[in-house]
Amino acid sequence: MAEKIGRNDPCWCGSGRKYKACHQSFDEKIERFKDQGCIVPPRNIIKTPEDIAGIKESAKINVAVLDYVGENIRPGMSTEEIDRMVYEKTTEMGGIPAPLNYQGFPKSVCTSINDEVCHGIPAADIILQEGDIVNVDVSTILNGYFSDSSRMYMIGTVSEEKRRLVEVTKECVQKGLEAVKPWGFLGDMGQAVHDHAFANGYTIVREIGGHGIGKEFHEEPWVGYNSVAGTEMLLVPGMVFTIEPMVNMGKPEIYIDDVNDWTVYTQDGLPSAQWEIQVLVTEDGAEVISW
Ligand code: MF3
Ligand code: CO
Repeated sequence: MAEKIGRNDPCWCGSGRKYKACHQSFDEKIERFKDQGCIVPPRNIIKTPEDIAGIKESAKINVAVLDYVGENIRPGMSTEEIDRMVYEKTTEMGGIPAPLNYQGFPKSVCTSINDEVCHGIPAADIILQEGDIVNVDVSTILNGYFSDSSRMYMIGTVSEEKRRLVEVTKECVQKGLEAVKPWGFLGDMGQAVHDHAFANGYTIVREIGGHGIGKEFHEEPWVGYNSVAGTEMLLVPGMVFTIEPMVNMGKPEIYIDDVNDWTVYTQDGLPSAQWEIQVLVTEDGAEVISW
C-alpha cells in the first residue's frame, strides 16, 4: 500500500475526516487480503468521492453521445458521419473525445463492423449496409476525468445468427456486472462473462480486455474474461473499471490491420460483437456509470 498515515491525520480520500474515522479500517482490511496472498488494488486506483463525481459528470456526456448516435444511425451512412456526430455532441457538451490523437488514433470514435473486433477507424468510404452489426465505442474526457462505453447497433434487418451474437454479448456483460461485488474478485466477473459466452457456443478474444479508468484512460487492473472465480484482483468500493468483452461467433484468434495498424479483425472472418459498460464498485454491489 501507499505511505503510512497517522491515525489522526486527514484521510487520503479528501473527506477532511481523521484517518482513523475514515479509511483506516478499510485499508487494514485490504492489508489482510494482501497478507493472505491476494492481489489487492493499489491506493491510486481507489477513487475519492470527488473523483467519482468527476467521472460521473464525464459519463453523462458519454451516455448522451451514444444515445444520439442510436437515434441517428441508419443504412447508407458513412462511419465518418458517426465520427462527426460524436465529435459535435461531445464538444457541444463541453467534453473532449478521448480517442482523438490517443496514441496517434486519428478520429473521435472507434466504429467496428461485422468481423472487425475493435478499433475500427471511421472513414467517408465506409458505408453502413443493411444487415451490418456495428460497435460504436465512445470515450470522453471532462475536467480531466475519463468515461468509456460502447454499444452495438444493428443496421436494418440483421440475420438471426448475428442478432443472437449481439444479444448474447449484451447478456455476457450483464452476467459479469451481477458478479461484481465489494470484497469479491475480478475473476468472479471474468468467469461469469466467459461461461455465458461459451455456453452459447461463442469464444472471447483473449488479448484485449477492459481496464481501470479515472484520471487516465487506461489504468490498472487489466480486465480479461478467461478468468477463474476467486482469482485476480480484489474488488473494493471506489474502484472503477470497464467490462467490455469482445465475443466472437467463431474462433477467438485476431489480427491487426497491417496498413493502419489499428483495426482488429477476427482471423476466421466471422462476426464479433462487443458491449462496454463502466462500473463503480460500491459498498453493497456495483453501479453502472456509463453504458
Ligand atoms: N475505447 C477503447 C477502450 O475501450 C479504447 C480505444 S483507444 C483508441 O478501451 F485510440 F482506439 F480510441
Ligand atoms: Co474501454
